[in-house]
Amino acid sequence: MRDCLIEPTPESTASGPLLPEIDTIVLDPKTIQRRVRQLGSQISRDYRGQELTVVCILTGAFVFACDLLRSLRLRVLAEFIAISRYSRRPTGGAVKILKDLQSDISGRNVLIVEDIVDTGLTLNYLVRNLSVRNPASMAICALLDRPELRLADIPIRYTGFNVTSQFLIGYGLDFQGKYRNLPFIATMKRLS
Ligand code: PRP
Repeated sequence: MRDCLIEPTPESTASGPLLPEIDTIVLDPKTIQRRVRQLGSQISRDYRGQELTVVCILTGAFVFACDLLRSLRLRVLAEFIAISRYSRRPTGGAVKILKDLQSDISGRNVLIVEDIVDTGLTLNYLVRNLSVRNPASMAICALLDRPELRLADIPIRYTGFNVTSQFLIGYGLDFQGKYRNLPFIATMKRLS
């Protein structure tokens, strides 16, 4: 049995050797995990005795949602929704649902889990879309918030960290679809 175990090597532990395009680690794995556990405890207290539908916004929130879900001491239904903005222009608020929820959220307590909130336009659309499905309650949990970029006023009940407007990768955040797997959040060097 022991032979079947894959022993971690220095290359496969923690963050491993840094990729050359990683500039500065803004949030290290320990800091992220500690904050996620705190959020999990707070949410578990707030919803004690109730069931919760956690809606993870694909793609970026999937890493955060995985850790957050496992820190909740509640009966949880995990749901996923994939949406895409028609335009990344600041005023382009139109959103298309690529993959909808699988369950009916009417009468349910819904917690929307997002990796990062910038303009707030994505969540603004999603909150309005989900509200008409008559959930018992709805709240937002975002790991990262960049309030200085906000265009739509949305109430975020649980926030992990406030960050500045610098471009970030890791822990779900991508550049051209890559780097979501990094266990930390970092700024990036553009290599030519
Ligand atoms: C990012 C992020 C949020 C959205 C926030 O998603 O995951 O969903 O942008 O921006 P906003 O507050 O300005 O609306 P992105 O469109 O990059 O897709 P991804 O989740 O697949 O990375």
